[in-house]
Amino acid sequence: MKLLSIAGARPNFMKLSSISHAVEEYNQRNHKTSSFDKIEHIIVHTGQHYDVQMSRQFFDELKIPAPDINLEVGSGSHAVQTAEIMKRFEPVLLEKTPDVLLVVGDVNSTIACTLVASKINYPSDHLLSRPILTHVEAGLRSYDRSMPEEINRILTDALCDLLFATEESAITNLEREGIDHEKIHFVGNVMIDTLYRYLKDSHKSVIKSKIGLDGTYSIVTLHRPSNVDKPETLKLLIDCLNLIAERLKIIFPIHPRTRATLNQFGLLRALENNEHIILTEPLGYIDFMSLLKDAALVLTDSGGIQEETTVLKVPCITLRENTERPVTVKEGTNYLIGMNINEIIPTVDMIMSGRGKVSTIPKYWDGHAGKRIIEHLVRIWREKAICI
Ligand code: UD1
Repeated sequence: MKLLSIAGARPNFMKLSSISHAVEEYNQRNHKTSSFDKIEHIIVHTGQHYDVQMSRQFFDELKIPAPDINLEVGSGSHAVQTAEIMKRFEPVLLEKTPDVLLVVGDVNSTIACTLVASKINYPSDHLLSRPILTHVEAGLRSYDRSMPEEINRILTDALCDLLFATEESAITNLEREGIDHEKIHFVGNVMIDTLYRYLKDSHKSVIKSKIGLDGTYSIVTLHRPSNVDKPETLKLLIDCLNLIAERLKIIFPIHPRTRATLNQFGLLRALENNEHIILTEPLGYIDFMSLLKDAALVLTDSGGIQEETTVLKVPCITLRENTERPVTVKEGTNYLIGMNINEIIPTVDMIMSGRGKVSTIPKYWDGHAGKRIIEHLVRIWREKAICI
């Protein structure tokens, strides 16, 4: 079975790490069995994220094989970035003709490559006319179509043949959209596979001494266009962080998008001048996990961090009006609070006084989602190959 996986932007890399480890383990486990078909794993990096800090360091730390191909698309408007990925991916797909295309998450690379593959026509001597289209982390919905990621999720799920879900709400969402139940598989969370695999390495991190950190602290991450692209919203957030910093030290690794708008709106100085706020570049996975696991509190607009804090049992305040990951609120440590200072500060105080909620770990977030995905893929590929 020839499997081609797409990686584009930072949150994809943690998910791809689980898949590539699961492929390696499958090949090792089965190579002596008589019916063994090796999985050949091809990795295509679209180049949506390209800085060492946003991309390369994750491949190194999470032991993801170097990409076979890098499309080097870089940044651009949504239309330009999506179109450029499509143009550059089509010839690669025709050359590699994989049996299965695997995309993860909800970034522009996810929909761009799915759309190309859904309309491709392989040469007539190939067993299939196009690859089996597989979406990992399918069915998540914020029901907010102003988020580019929501558009990417809906379209990717509508086109894919196999949909791997992380939580039960995703199954309900997909069924509501009329997607055939046969396509949907509840497998758990590949992001959490990677967390369990690499958490044990977090003691190797020297980030705390590097940034001079001792005592209790919180972590802040912000990058959603709805939070960081408008000066009034960003200003409100910075005011809010300055208030929180009076109670609890803040570590704030700044996403490139956020750094650019902080500079553009002249707001970076307000953060730099606060001695209780430590600003850093985007951090590597091991450094970030070593900070995250011991944080008293996290404030974020990221999707993945809502999940990671739930597993680490660290209270998380999500600075958004909605979440596509409701299980983290229902069962986990997540508080969904919009951009209202009058709610954010009392929630911080409530958590700091030890009255935060008691959480559990969602079903199948057990470190084995990647293995389940590969087992499904092999079974389905075999059934398909036999039919042909
Ligand atoms: C993208 C994803 C988002 C994901 C986020 C994680 C889409 C629509 N958005 O948002 O779902 O949560 O990544 O980081 O796909 N930049 C750099 N260096 C880089 C990458 C980006 O400087 O390595 C700059 C770009 O020039 C651009 C900005 O960061 O100005 C935003 O990058 P972009 O990939 O467009 O979107 P993200 O906000 O990162």
